[in-house]
Amino acid sequence: MEDFIWWRDGVVYQIYPRSFADSNNDGIGDLPGILGRLDYLQSLGIDAIWLSPFYPSPDKDFGYDVSDFTAVDPRFGTLEDFAALVEGAHQRGIRVVLDLVLNHTSDQHTWFEESRRSKDSPRRDWYIWRDHPNNWQASFGGSAWEFDPPTGQYYLHSFTKEQPDLNWRNPQVRQAILDVFRFWLERGVDGFRLDVFNAYFKDAAFRDNPAKFGLRGFDRQQHLFDMDQPEMTPLLNEVRRLLDEYPERYAVGETYLATPEKIIAYCGPDKLHAAFSFDFTSSNLIFPWQAAWVCQKILEREARFGAAQVWPTTVMGNHDLPRPASRYCRGEDDTQAFNAMALLLTLPGTPFLYYGDEIGMRDISLKRSEILDPPGKKYWPVYKGRDGCRSPMQWDASANAGFSAARPWLPVHPNYTRRSVLAQSQDLQSLLIFTQKLLALRKSHPALRRGGLDFLPGTPPQVLAYLRQSADQTLLAAFNFGSSFVTFPLPAGKWEKLLFSGQSARPGELLPGQVYLLEKQAER
Ligand code: GLC
Ligand code: CA
Repeated sequence: MEDFIWWRDGVVYQIYPRSFADSNNDGIGDLPGILGRLDYLQSLGIDAIWLSPFYPSPDKDFGYDVSDFTAVDPRFGTLEDFAALVEGAHQRGIRVVLDLVLNHTSDQHTWFEESRRSKDSPRRDWYIWRDHPNNWQASFGGSAWEFDPPTGQYYLHSFTKEQPDLNWRNPQVRQAILDVFRFWLERGVDGFRLDVFNAYFKDAAFRDNPAKFGLRGFDRQQHLFDMDQPEMTPLLNEVRRLLDEYPERYAVGETYLATPEKIIAYCGPDKLHAAFSFDFTSSNLIFPWQAAWVCQKILEREARFGAAQVWPTTVMGNHDLPRPASRYCRGEDDTQAFNAMALLLTLPGTPFLYYGDEIGMRDISLKRSEILDPPGKKYWPVYKGRDGCRSPMQWDASANAGFSAARPWLPVHPNYTRRSVLAQSQDLQSLLIFTQKLLALRKSHPALRRGGLDFLPGTPPQVLAYLRQSADQTLLAAFNFGSSFVTFPLPAGKWEKLLFSGQSARPGELLPGQVYLLEKQAER
């Protein structure tokens, strides 16, 4: 396809390896399991997979506490399995994006073990040690400083105390990490998702953060000194130069406490290719799922990213957030899940599709004793953590949803007997088939990937409708967020329906909760 750049025009599918497919029946998903499901992903029609961490980890933060950046945790497989996965993906035209967690390591990484041993350790300065803590807070609760008795100093940890922050100001650390990039680039990896990259550098003088109003200790500070330091930009320049030594490589950043200004400042031809915006992921309380709110967000995005010429990303869910179907749907009714999927796949920007959202998986709910996620344990019942969206993929109605023959590490959602890939692949009205068709339309219609966006004027308040237009294509996406039947004036011309959710309706009419996609027919 002409001018198709995979990370700009394609769709990225996020896999949480622990929960996707278990090939050896130990209850934990693994790399060979993913390999075995590549045909499914190819038929779904995605362009890239982003793999959440599969490196050796003591699992204090389920893989986001890495004890070796250049190895595969034996529970997930081997480097040979990884090579087979990359090869299998590439054979099917699927790119592979790795998750690099470089703000911190596990406390069981040999670097930290050596660092904490003595003040004279050659690796002492690879982490951040101080005689006295300042006021910085860990985002998972409590002070960001932990006293370490063997040497009588405190080390910094922005997350759990088992995740000490690396000292990015040390040139050896910088070099060691650039070598990690190169290690994976040499193994054919196409891109990286950089975990909380904008926290790598901290204020050199360790000034206290000023206070602000908020709920948790972490929220009661303005994060002026523990993230977004000016040193970040030259580092991104260096990472980009490294990536550019290889063809078509990509980096997307997870901007911590993202604002559009920050995201835009970190992206560009000599910085990141993209950074996540979480425009549509706030809870229903903060961001009501209504036409006016969604419209407002889209307007803001379009204005800011358009002016800056930065390519946006669209995220509906990930491994840290309640699933879109859990946020917007009532019970097992998928109406709003169709709308969320249609929004994800018809907006400008690179869509990130979280595994299981294509079948409308719902979050599992756990008893307190079953909770595994550290912030969930800490803040229960105010916040129940992130286990809910990490449950095993629901492949079919067999035991454990076809994920594993053994008891999975997290429970399968009890709806798996009805909600699964197999069931939905046999139901033409299902969210899975709808998603597959949308992905195919996005591929066949440049207007959906690259066209401009214009809102349709004069629609009723519960309707969101926008045109996506390129030189020779005009598409219209129309969503009814309300619960009543509506009509609205279509622009002149003859409109053909490409896809719709629910029962058939005429162009210019929308059933309650319905979304459809129309294409304007060429004039004769
Ligand atoms: C990112 C990850 C999250 C992890 C945290 C610490 O926010 O998405 O899962 O807990 O970083 O690495
Ligand atoms: Ca396994």
